[in-house]
Amino acid sequence: MSEAYIHIDRVTKRFGAVTAVDAADLKIRRGEFFSLLGPSGCGKTTLLRMIAGFDFPTDGEIFIDNNAVTAIPPNRRPSNMVFQSYAIFPHLNVFDNIAYGLRKLRLPRAELTARVEEALAMIKLSGFGMRRADELSGGQRQRVALARALVRRPKVLLLDEPLGALDKRLREAMQIELRQLQKNVGITFVFVTHDQEEALSMSDRIAVMSNGKVLQVAEPRTLYEQPNCREVADFIGTMNFFEGTVSGVQNGRIAIDAGPLGTLQATADSFASGASVLIAVRPEKISLSLAKIDSSVAGKISASAYLGERSHFNVIVEGLQEPVSVATQNVGRMGSAGLSGGETVYLSWPAEAMVILPI
Ligand SMILES: Nc1ncnc2c1ncn2[C@@H]1O[C@H](COP(=O)(O)OP(=O)(O)OP(=O)(O)O)[C@@H](O)[C@H]1O
Ligand SMILES: [Mg+2]
Repeated sequence: MSEAYIHIDRVTKRFGAVTAVDAADLKIRRGEFFSLLGPSGCGKTTLLRMIAGFDFPTDGEIFIDNNAVTAIPPNRRPSNMVFQSYAIFPHLNVFDNIAYGLRKLRLPRAELTARVEEALAMIKLSGFGMRRADELSGGQRQRVALARALVRRPKVLLLDEPLGALDKRLREAMQIELRQLQKNVGITFVFVTHDQEEALSMSDRIAVMSNGKVLQVAEPRTLYEQPNCREVADFIGTMNFFEGTVSGVQNGRIAIDAGPLGTLQATADSFASGASVLIAVRPEKISLSLAKIDSSVAGKISASAYLGERSHFNVIVEGLQEPVSVATQNVGRMGSAGLSGGETVYLSWPAEAMVILPI
């Protein structure tokens, strides 16, 4: 319990017939960069608004620092929110936009100025105070919105797709800046995104949501390497799925009859002989070879894409409904970049590359 700085305790939110958030249970640590990741409409904004106090749960409780805040209004919570469509006042200058959040505190002028200047430095816009907000670039405006939230020194910053409106390059630069800023100020960040790469690169931990439900909460590497269900595996990166039947179980290892792929040996427990399983393998874990090697599977390249540092291939294996997706690194004199289509190749992967999931 002491680990949970923000505790979302079995929270459900219904809007009429729509269950926007469905029994979500989350424990967010103090100082953590925590992301809510999921497709459009899965309930991310609704959950964030409940943490902020703009919406109230139909069921369940929210605790911040061991205090129940479920029915407490936003201005009395230790949190501040940066909204999905960034809203700053275009007619005010940068200084007044940032100072806006402090007006109610009735600080002495000198302290107000000092705090705004400090926030400006944090977002690397020192010297921009007198600039009108409508004379800023999209990225600069986004940073002003952030500063306006930061200047109140919240313990929790809730960010709803704050980089969504930015172009790719600016977005990547802001991702690094935001992460750096979070480390420096030590505030707990709850960050909403539907961009999996953004979540993977920035977060300490991620909750993957779908249809209002939290499917898995884990560190980026674990989510990618050990997804706990098909939906998570599918949503994070690219994944090949094969079906099979467990044909033998021994000491944490199982044999799987995988039809066209033959018999596969995998590391997994909690599967009984005869169980139907889903075998998930990432494209980059599959080796592609022109020579047949032991226990490899033959296939034919049906499509290829050269992407500079890597290449992607679709390989048709007789008996499988979908082509197998393979990604290779174009290093050294490796010839796979020259493969274009029609060639017969052999696919293989190590046992530890497979994630075995129940069907
Ligand atoms: N005020 C509301 N009244 C009725 N339904 C709502 C309301 N707010 C959200 N919903 C519904 O709840 C579900 C979750 O919405 P939410 O805005 O939380 O999704 P999201 O994950 O933030 O999506 P996006 O990535 O598109 O912003 C959706 O089906 C949405 O239509
Ligand atoms: Mg949203």
